[in-house]
Order: sequence, then structure tokens, then C-alpha cells
Amino acid sequence: MCGIIGYVGSRSCKELILTGLERLEYRGYDSAGIALLEGGGSHLELVRAIGNLAVLREAVGENSSPATTGLGHTRWATHGGVTVANAHPQVDAEGRVAVVMNGIIENYMSLRSELAGQGVAFRSETDTEVLPHLIAQEYRGDLAEAVRRVTERIQGHYAFVAMHCDEPGRLVGARKECPLMVGVGDGERFLASAIPAFLRHTRDVQLLESGEVVSIDASSTTIWNGHGPEADRPVTRVLMDEDSAEKGGHETFMLKEIHEQPTALWDTLGDRLGADGSVDLEALGLDDASLARVERIHIVACGTSFHAGLVGRYLIEDWARVPVHCEVASEYRYRTCLAGPGDLIIGITQSGETADTLAAMRVARERGAHVVALTNIMGSQATRDSDGVIFTRAGLEIGVAATKTHTAQVMALALLALKLGRLKWALTSVGALELAEDLRRLPDLVQAYLHSAEPARVYEVAGRYASCPFFLYLGRHVGVPVCFEGALKLKEISYIPTEAYPAGEMKHGPIALLEPGSPVVVVATDGHVFDKVVSNIQEVKARGAAVIAVATEGNEEIGHHADDVLWCPRTPSILTPVTAIVPLQLFAYAIARANGLNVDQPRNLAKTVTVE
Ligand code: G6P
Repeated sequence: MCGIIGYVGSRSCKELILTGLERLEYRGYDSAGIALLEGGGSHLELVRAIGNLAVLREAVGENSSPATTGLGHTRWATHGGVTVANAHPQVDAEGRVAVVMNGIIENYMSLRSELAGQGVAFRSETDTEVLPHLIAQEYRGDLAEAVRRVTERIQGHYAFVAMHCDEPGRLVGARKECPLMVGVGDGERFLASAIPAFLRHTRDVQLLESGEVVSIDASSTTIWNGHGPEADRPVTRVLMDEDSAEKGGHETFMLKEIHEQPTALWDTLGDRLGADGSVDLEALGLDDASLARVERIHIVACGTSFHAGLVGRYLIEDWARVPVHCEVASEYRYRTCLAGPGDLIIGITQSGETADTLAAMRVARERGAHVVALTNIMGSQATRDSDGVIFTRAGLEIGVAATKTHTAQVMALALLALKLGRLKWALTSVGALELAEDLRRLPDLVQAYLHSAEPARVYEVAGRYASCPFFLYLGRHVGVPVCFEGALKLKEISYIPTEAYPAGEMKHGPIALLEPGSPVVVVATDGHVFDKVVSNIQEVKARGAAVIAVATEGNEEIGHHADDVLWCPRTPSILTPVTAIVPLQLFAYAIARANGLNVDQPRNLAKTVTVE
């Protein structure tokens, strides 16, 4: 949801900012812009363009620039359409102040009328534009002071960075809820929405808290948080791998990330699973005795993370016999929250930034529940708004359609379920050992599958259905969240309408959608509901629909019922969400590619949704 980067140092920064923006493009990509402080502060060079960064690059041109202070922005429109005038950076009337922002200024309408009443002419429809005007108005020779005063006048959730021609060599940022961090290099500093923006140059990061204002120059960072300036914010060295931000020989990030799932699963397991089946979730923030007393679990999440949560419900209820409520965060946050002490809330968010998930976690935390963030990003807001953390170790995910973080989330939830199952005495030690072995085998199974002939066959099958206008997905039990996730993958990257339903509910509506030849994807993996699913397949076939079944390797029956079969590795039925989703990721991918679409940057979507 918009990516921002600022640089101050001694190097020419045009290219640094453009490549930094490329690393942030997953956050938004409808338009982009860059502002360079030229001539030692004599003027701002502003270039903005509609489209992705390739378009901005072209607009910027090849000419080198001596500027050593600059800002960049990649936009996902909230206020105002996708136009050059609405792209960032936004500047003040004199063209002396430039600002890039991620988030929303909620009181911008009243600020805008106030400024207009004072004669300010607005040139965009954005909420952001009030910021450069307000900063110019408050400026008395100290940019940090002006920004601090402006933060007292604005409301909303935001992260922004400003620069002023009168103070070359300085950038000032502010954050409330939305992410902003300082990258500390050798004689240079960055302010950015996310670490990948500067990872090529430094791994040293200073994290900022919500509500803070920060000023950087090439060699120092000063932070204000209501207690006066602080100049010694600790520096954390991040372990992120720069290779994650490269496609590494794959045609897209999404395909690369699908293939990284075995590693994501191995790493998420890591050393957490002992030889005796015990589980060590190091940063849960709850000792075993307290965890054993948990009576109810609520899972809150959005999008693909929510689908992982749905799988988690089956795992926890089956292995630990603890009731689990799983809900999309945007709904949970506005219901009467009945969570309280003794309840465990798990907020699943790969980015650790999704506004609705953070809000839902906050609501439950305020009521005294123990809140755990299940996230892929160290230092993210979710880790700071929670009492404990479970990290997935999937590495950076760039493709907007989540893949490896999803399967890693399911693995992490399985570890929690196993631990809880032992603590609650719902699993015997032998049972726990067997499940631990099953979990250990999962990454190898996915690896073997990805290296087999099956993915090519999935492509071949998908190619035959690529022009279908609608897909219905059906499944039962753990097959339901697999359907939801498979259907989401297809619709988000191919723009083909999909409907995903529990197969038993099909007769109550979706069956009316079927016509001869309609493709119906059925998750029909082995397990106690297999026969029921087969009955649903018969009902679908009786309407002339074409069935594409996802089935367990070695199942001899499914071939008699389905038109096409996508095989997945054999694993205990409750763990099939990890293995069965992989063919469906590839199926969605192949259809989108067959239709010539950009799977890494699907239209209108953003990887990280930092607005409500
Ligand atoms: C967006 C992304 C999805 C993601 C969802 C939740 O919609 O496009 O891929 O699943 O946000 O994101 P989170 O970072 O909270 O897991």
C-alpha cells in the first residue's frame, strides 16, 4: 500500500532511489515518482509517471544527477484517481518542500479547506498534498520542528518523509501505525517503508515506534516521541537475504516463491521440533503452564493468511481439543469483542502490517487476552503490538499472491497445535511423535512434487481450461480452506470469477451456476470425507460440468469420476492443506500466464494493505 524511500548521503542518489523503489513495488504499482534535491538545495527535480517503475525509469531518463538527497514513492491509490498530479512526491506552492506518504490523513478535508481559505491552490486530489503545504506554513528554518508541529494537526494512519530545499542533507519522517524505518549505512542513511528498499546497501536498521518523528542526515538519526530528542536508537542487524529480492532464474517472483516452499517449510520447522516430538516456540510469551490453561483461541487475519487460519482451526481442534474461532480481521474488529484473560488470540499476517489485523489484535489485547502475532517479518508492527510472536521463516515474499508464506503459516500453526496437544494431554506421546514425523516429511514431499513431472502436467491441464469464464471450487473438511485459497489465487492473478464453497453447501446455491462444460475444481484428497466428496462430484457431473480433482497420489478411484486429476503427495489427511494447495497454486499460475497476465503485479491489488 504505497512504498516510500528517502536517501541522504554522499552518493548520487537517483539510481539508489529507483532500485529501492523496485524493491518496494510489491506495495503498490499504479504510479510512481521521485524528487531530487538538486544544486545543493537550489531546487527540486520532480518526475512522476503513471504505471509501474519501468515507466518512471523511462520518464526519469538516463542522465546522471549529482543530487545526494532524494525521495521516491510507489503508489496504490486511496484518495484521488491514478493521475500524474496525484502521484507522489507532492510539493508545496513554492516547490521547496516535497513529501511522500503511505497511509491516510483522515482530517485532510478540513485542513484542505482551511489552507484553501488562506489562498493555497491545490494541484491534486490527494490527502497527502496538505502535508507539504502545512510544512511550508510551519517552517521556521527547522524541518524537524515543522514536521512535529504538523503531526499535531493531522489525524490518521500514515508514514511520510519530507525534504526541504533549505536543508539539503536532511530528511524528516513521521509515522503513525504505518511502517517507516531507518537504514543506517556507512556515511549515508535511508528512510523507507520496508527493509528490502535498502537491503542492498545496509542490513543495519533503526526501528521507529508509532507516533515518532525522525530526522536523519548522512551520519545521525534523531527521534522525537514526546520526551525530547533521542539520538541513540539501537541499531538492529537484520538477517534478511538480498537474494529474496531477485527472481533467481525464474520467470516471475510468484513461480520462484512457489518453488521456495520446501525451504520455507524446512526453515519454519527449523530446530523447533525436538526428537521426542516436543515443540519449542521460543517467543510465544506464554510459559507451558499458562498455555496449558488456554480455553479458547481466536484467529484473526485477512486474505491468504485468513485461509491459513482456517486450516489452523482444524489442526488445533483436532490435535489439542481447544475450540478455535477464526474470523476475517475486518469483521472481528467491529464486533462486540468477548475475548478476555485466558483467551489466546493469534493474529496471522505475513507482512505484520495489515491494518485490519493489527486493529483486531489491539481490540482483543485491550480486553486482556494474550495476543500472539504469527508473522514473517521481524520488527514489523504486529510483533510490537503483541505479547508473543511465532515467526514463519519463509524469506521475503515479493509476489502479490502469497504462496510460500501461506504454507509456512500452516506449518507454524501445526507446530502450535502439536505443542498444545501435548500440553492439554489430548495427544499421547506416541501420537505426538507420529505427527512430528509427518510434519518433518512435509517439506521433502513438496520438494519431490515440485521436481517431478506433475507441475508440467498441471500446466497442460490448466492450458485446456484457460479460457473458461468461471470456476467453481468445492471441498470438504480441510479441503474447504484449500478451495478458498485455490480460488483466491486464480481470481487474483487471472481475473476469472471464482466461487469456493464447502461441497455440502453446493446444493444450496452454487449448483445453479453450472452449465455443461463448467469447470469445477474439487479437492478430493484421501480422508474420512472422500466418499462424500465423490458424491458431490457425481452431482456436478450429472449437470454436465467438467471436474478437475485434486487427489492423493495413488488413489485409484478418482480417475473414474474426474475429467482431470491434479495429484498431490500422500500425507495424513489433516495435513493435505500443505500438499494440495501447491497444484492449485500452479494451476492458477498457469492459467494467468496462458492469458498473458502479470502475475507478480495483479491489477488493483497490493501486497501489504496498510489502510482499513
Ligand atoms: C493482501 C495481499 C494478500 C495477503 C493479505 C493479507 O490482500 O495481496 O496476499 O494475504 O493482504 O496480508 P498479510 O500481510 O496480513 O498476511
